[in-house]
Amino acid sequence: MLLVGGEGTRLRPLTLTTPKPMLPVAGTPITIHQITRARDAGVQRIVLGTAYRADVFTDHLGDGSRLGVEIVYAHEETPLGTGGAIRNAAAHLRSDGHEPVLILNGDVLSGVDMAALVDGHVATDAAVTLHLTRVDDPRRYGLVPTDGDGSVRQFLEKPQTPEEIVTDQINAGCYVFRRDVIDAIAPDRVVSVEREVFPALLDSGALIRGVVDTSYWLDLGTPWDFLQGSTDLVRGVAPWDGHQPADFLVLDGAQIAADAVIDNGSTIGPGSHIASGALVRGSVLFADAIIEQGAQVVDSVVGIGACIGAGASVRGAVLGDGVVVRPGAQVAEGERIDPGTVIS
Ligand code: GDD
Ligand code: MG
Repeated sequence: MLLVGGEGTRLRPLTLTTPKPMLPVAGTPITIHQITRARDAGVQRIVLGTAYRADVFTDHLGDGSRLGVEIVYAHEETPLGTGGAIRNAAAHLRSDGHEPVLILNGDVLSGVDMAALVDGHVATDAAVTLHLTRVDDPRRYGLVPTDGDGSVRQFLEKPQTPEEIVTDQINAGCYVFRRDVIDAIAPDRVVSVEREVFPALLDSGALIRGVVDTSYWLDLGTPWDFLQGSTDLVRGVAPWDGHQPADFLVLDGAQIAADAVIDNGSTIGPGSHIASGALVRGSVLFADAIIEQGAQVVDSVVGIGACIGAGASVRGAVLGDGVVVRPGAQVAEGERIDPGTVIS
């Protein structure tokens, strides 16, 4: 099961039109990177838990046959939270009581061995097995301290006080649930798996296992992490089967002047135009972007059909679809520009 119903507020304005899991990293939606990896690990059938902009998923992914998996949709009219979404999907699961159900947050790039995680889960008959990873600053995530044998002691979602920072191990957003644990979640109401289901399971004495993994891991929830993930894929730092590592990626129908400079893992979206003397560094351009003569785009995300005028400079910024930056104008670090805005 893939959890893809969040609004992606931290990625606005990019998520005003496209839900976060469908934003292209290195030219391919995050969800498709995940589906492909799951398929290669042996997954044949996927339930997509949708809420925000479900139409975009059904339009692009359909029944999954193009990707070699069967996709079905469990839609929430009003978002039910992570636990509510998992419970809502139960009606579409075919597994029996003790069989494993693999569940992924829809905004994570990771190299974890999903098949090994499922195998380890089945061998121990845990209620839930969690993929954990270590990060320098765990405060934005769910902290998961474990005992020496890997059993989870506590679950601390987005801790508010320094005393709660008891570990650098975090929930990596990839779970294996025993089917009957899903059925036991209260139906048809908002439930957080992180704040309610996991703590309640621990209180009841159930076994939750945490498996610390050291392979590549990144949550793409902010524009800066999104850029990191995309450039890591292009440069071969993040796992992407069959991709030849490169300094930049140019998608179908893009046109690039011979003396333009493109580097640091940038992706040039389909149909984009890069004029003479332009620089695109460490950036992601969505489809049909226009970068005019001598313009500079550094560490930035440029929405569909946006136009950066001659000599303009965009650094560390996020431009929504159709934004126009007039010739010579500057967009400063950290700016997020709404779709259709004209900057002069
Ligand atoms: N269907 C559905 N319904 N999906 C939802 C809902 C909902 O109401 N709310 C969130 N989701 C989906 C999002 O689309 C996303 O793919 C996933 O659930 C996680 O939500 P985020 O909003 O990205 O959560 P987070 O990044 O702050 O924290 C979560 O992920 C971290 C790891 O990346 C938590 O699980 C943390 O514990 C974890 O460390
Ligand atoms: Mg997230």
